Amino acid sequence: MGKLKDFENQRAGRLIEFNGQKYKLISVPYNLSLDEINFLKQISNLFDKKDFFINAGEDRIEIYLNRINLDEFIKKTELILEGNERRKALFEKILEGIDSIKSYGLKSGQRVYVDYDKERKVKSRKEKERERGKYFYALNHNFENKNNDLPKEFENKIICGDSEKILKAFPDNCIDLIFTSPPYNFGLDYENHRDAMSWENYFEKLFKIFDECIRVLKFGGKDSCKCSALVFGLYSDSSYNFQFFHE
Ligand SMILES: C[S@@+](CC[C@H](N)C(=O)[O-])C[C@H]1O[C@@H](n2cnc3c(N)ncnc32)[C@H](O)[C@@H]1O
Repeated sequence: MGKLKDFENQRAGRLIEFNGQKYKLISVPYNLSLDEINFLKQISNLFDKKDFFINAGEDRIEIYLNRINLDEFIKKTELILEGNERRKALFEKILEGIDSIKSYGLKSGQRVYVDYDKERKVKSRKEKERERGKYFYALNHNFENKNNDLPKEFENKIICGDSEKILKAFPDNCIDLIFTSPPYNFGLDYENHRDAMSWENYFEKLFKIFDECIRVLKFGGKDSCKCSALVFGLYSDSSYNFQFFHE
């Protein structure tokens, strides 16, 4: 065995470091036969030790998990079960062990058990806010902060049509949450929408609809827009977009 470092009190599984690599360690009590120990070695050898390995003792199995593609794991392992019922039961136990760790990230089809949430943490939040500015609302906004009720005729309805026209019938500040997924202008084949406009026309229409969204959104309400990184980053002139949101 190599060098092992134990980190106590990890929320989701026991985090350890082995030979300089971090793993979640799952320990499953199990009385293993020689055939089973051999079977576990075969499974373990299917993967890069940096990602995943199994250490089989006489009375327990230790599963070291850094990252794993579970579908691939199941497919590869099924090939060496050889219809053996004891191997099958053992395999189930291992799957159960892996599945007991509920906290993981997903990357290229792999479950990532270690440090998957690291890059998302914001460090020195206050300092960064100071550097880039802090906007809860657009710059120098003059939004009305009195909210209105949603007219009864719009309650519990699915209304189909052009959002720009439909939203015009709504009063100001009457919607709590807007969730929108506008077209990306990639050239997709929609029945009633031409998804290949000039960028100028595309943004002109989009911003007219966003203007309506902002108008009908309650003061303190939330607007969530699912949009393409390409639309808002690469293809378009991004200053155009940022200008809109700041205004
Ligand atoms: C990116 S897709 C969103 C698909 C949607 N999330 C779904 O699961 O069906 C964009 C959709 O917006 C629709 N669309 C385009 N212009 C619109 C407009 N002015 N008002 C309302 N919907 C519009 C398109 O027809 C398309 O269905």
